[in-house]
Order: sequence, then structure tokens, then C-alpha cells
Amino acid sequence: MGQVVAVTNQKGGVGKTTTAVNLAAALADRDCRVLLVDLDPQGNSTTGCGVDKQDLSVTVCDVLLGEARTQDVILKVAAGDFSLLPANADLTAAEVRLLQEIGRELKLRAALEPIRGVYDFVLIDCPPTINMLTLNALTAADGVLIPIQCEYYALEGLSALLETIKQVRNTVNHDLRIEGLLRTMYDSRNKLAEEVSEQLIKHFRERVYNTVIPRNVRLAEAPSFGLPAMYHDRTSAGARAYVSLAKEVLARQAA
Ligand SMILES: Nc1ncnc2c1ncn2[C@@H]1O[C@H](COP(=O)(O)OP(=O)(O)O)[C@@H](O)[C@H]1O
Ligand SMILES: [Mg+2]
Repeated sequence: MGQVVAVTNQKGGVGKTTTAVNLAAALADRDCRVLLVDLDPQGNSTTGCGVDKQDLSVTVCDVLLGEARTQDVILKVAAGDFSLLPANADLTAAEVRLLQEIGRELKLRAALEPIRGVYDFVLIDCPPTINMLTLNALTAADGVLIPIQCEYYALEGLSALLETIKQVRNTVNHDLRIEGLLRTMYDSRNKLAEEVSEQLIKHFRERVYNTVIPRNVRLAEAPSFGLPAMYHDRTSAGARAYVSLAKEVLARQAA
């Protein structure tokens, strides 16, 4: 049975989308069958995979509202051997409409049920807020991958997310686990980054991935080409870091 992993942190700009797209590509590169679910109305994962988000007749929005079948909305991405359940701004409307529905936090879980067996990994790129979309992701997920930029307010935001995870665990998804915490945009010359990193390890121990994602310009520019970084510059430190993360994710799964 495939693993469903929500890539989440209610802080914006911490590297959720970069992680979702590049981990999807790196896992696919290691022969895993991967589905990337874009659950952010900004549609950055969709664009980052080279798909024109304005040009979609159906998206994850239709899936959540029960107006399209998941398998009819999934696309193959151009570069990278993985699939995408795309999103665009329509998803904002879905969020509002979901609020009025019964079982509103269960919609994504139900939508993924028929296709789960087809994939080894389903990665969900979450929006930068704890809203009904994020709750749907946490309800559908087996595990949570939390990208963290090691800066002053990083830990403060984390406690709100951990509280939400606890509530989801106590209600709709008892087995939800913290898959791992990932240090992103890391600059080892920055003393504060090092301090925050130490605190993370002290608190979360082996839940912190050994892999550290460095600040790397290739990771930042790859989305403008609609490519995961490994198809933009495979030798870049950024692309190699996500290959290393994929290995670590697979090793943890095997353990
Ligand atoms: N390791 C990195 N090095 C350099 N730039 C990065 C890195 N990770 C992300 N970025 C850039 O930082 C910005 C925010 O990253 P993004 O993945 O979109 O965050 P989020 O999805 O959490 O909002 C984007 O412009 C992205 O290209
Ligand atoms: Mg994002």
C-alpha cells in the first residue's frame, strides 16, 4: 500500500513546494511510482511541473467537490516520471464550499482511496495556512513531512502545527505520524541557522532528516523552466540534496 505524505508547514516560503516537486522527481528517479497532489490554490507545484495552471479544465478542486473522478484529473508531467493532480485558483472556492459539507475533512482521503494502490508515494503540497485544505491533507496522510527554514520564528510556528497534528490524531486519523523534519534553504555559515538546527535535533532527534537542503540558486530557478531541479541541473547541490532525501525517505520506510 502506498504511503501518503503531506508536505506541510503553515509558514509560507519555507520550501514546501520545492520539496514536494523535487522529492517527487527524486523518488520517481529511484523507480517509485509517485503522485504529486497540488493542494495549494497558488498552484506552484503545478507550474513547477511545467503545467499551465490557467489551461486546466479540471483540477483537484473538482475532485474535492465530487465533480470529477481522481483518475480523470491526474496528468503525467513532462519532465520526470511521475503524475500530478493539478491545482489552480479554483481551489479557493472549493475551500469555501467544503466548509458547508458533511464530512468536509474526509474529501481528499476518499478521493485518493481508489488510486492509492497504484502509487508507492502520494505527496501532498499543502497551502501555507491551517485551513480545510490542510485538514483534508492531514486526514488523508499516513505521515507529515515538515520543511523548516532554520530561522528565529521557525520553532514558534511549529508548535501550532504540532497541536493541529495532535488534534487530527485524536479525532479522524489516529495513526498520523511525523515522517520527518527537513531543514531547508540552509546556510551553514549562518550562526542562527546552526542554533535553530541544534534545537530541532535536541527536540525531535531522529525525526530530523540527516539530509539538509542547502540554499541553492538552481532550486529557485528550476520552477521558471517548469522543471524539477534534477532536470534543470542534475549536478547542482540542490538537486543532489533531494536525491539524498529520497534515499533517506526510502531507507526509513524500509527500517
Ligand atoms: N533550497 C532553496 N534554495 C534557494 N531557494 C529556494 C530553496 N527552497 C525554496 N526556494 C525558493 O524560495 C521560495 C519559497 O519556496 P517554496 O518552495 O515555494 O515555499 P512554500 O511552498 O513553503 O511557500 C521560492 O521562490 C523557491 O524557489
Ligand atoms: Mg508552496
